[in-house]
Amino acid sequence: MRRATAEAGINIALIKYWGKRDAAENLPDVGSISLTLDDLVTRTTVRFDPALERDRFVLDGQPRDDARVVQLLDGIRAIAGVMHRASVTSKNGVPTASGLASSASGAAALATAAWAAAGLDPDTAVDDPRFIDLVRKGSGSAPRSLLGGLVELEKTRGRVQQLCAEDAWDLRMLVARLTKGPKKTSSRAGMALTKQTSPYYAPWVESHPADLVEARAAIVDRDLPRLGAVMERSTCRMHACMLAADPPLRYWRGITLDVADAVEDLRAQGIGAWYTMDAGPHVKVLCAAADADQVRATLQSLVPPEDVLEAGPGPGARIVD
Ligand code: DP6
Repeated sequence: MRRATAEAGINIALIKYWGKRDAAENLPDVGSISLTLDDLVTRTTVRFDPALERDRFVLDGQPRDDARVVQLLDGIRAIAGVMHRASVTSKNGVPTASGLASSASGAAALATAAWAAAGLDPDTAVDDPRFIDLVRKGSGSAPRSLLGGLVELEKTRGRVQQLCAEDAWDLRMLVARLTKGPKKTSSRAGMALTKQTSPYYAPWVESHPADLVEARAAIVDRDLPRLGAVMERSTCRMHACMLAADPPLRYWRGITLDVADAVEDLRAQGIGAWYTMDAGPHVKVLCAAADADQVRATLQSLVPPEDVLEAGPGPGARIVD
């Protein structure tokens, strides 16, 4: 019996991924840049067990059937020459399927733990294209959680590279959790609908590379206002593209706009804060560590204090046991 436990932080995209070029390989139509977080993590244990007849997956205490988990385990079994089924136990530090990116940390933690439990070297996994391909098929944004700090996922082969180490820039991401429960439309279904029906999809893909260039330059210069501005732009372009789908895809709620307004008001008062949203109503706010208290106070004036989460840049997926 072989067993390993891995942790991976969620990552929040600054420059967004939305849309696939190849659904089977889960290759994106656009690149993306994200921040891996230190506090909101998934912890997953994988144990290959000769006594098991089928893979078992327990998420937050609930047994689940999840084809993506089995697909990922099958891929690793094929690479490592392991025959045994696995027992997988996973705990999410963030609500599952709520637009808080738990699928990315989940796939990164699962793949890292399974890789090590299968006897493969976790330290070199991120350099192995077979490993990245499996993680990306689990979730298109998941390879970004394999690395710490600011990370770029390039669109051609779906590989990842670190742009700024987690200890090299004292950023904070505050998350205003605005609803509970799973989102209405999965990212996967939403992306397919947008690509098929939104007349803004082609302009989204065409305009996207310039945002990546701008964000890379801002990161090199550690220029937060520049990075924040391009992050907001990428967010709004992605949501505009979804809103133009048929039927329209709208993840925002009224409170989402209230929080975005409050972030703009903070900026008008000279506090550097910028918002982003993903496939859910929640708002994530990027700021410097020095401004986090003021940003948190503003968010807590709009939502219950326990629904404001805060994290800094965190490390990539790693074996912890
Ligand atoms: C809006 O990675 O969840 O959060 O590739 O279908 O698994 P699949 O989608 P997923 O999409 C994330 C979309 C996003 C933007 C982003 O994280 O870049």
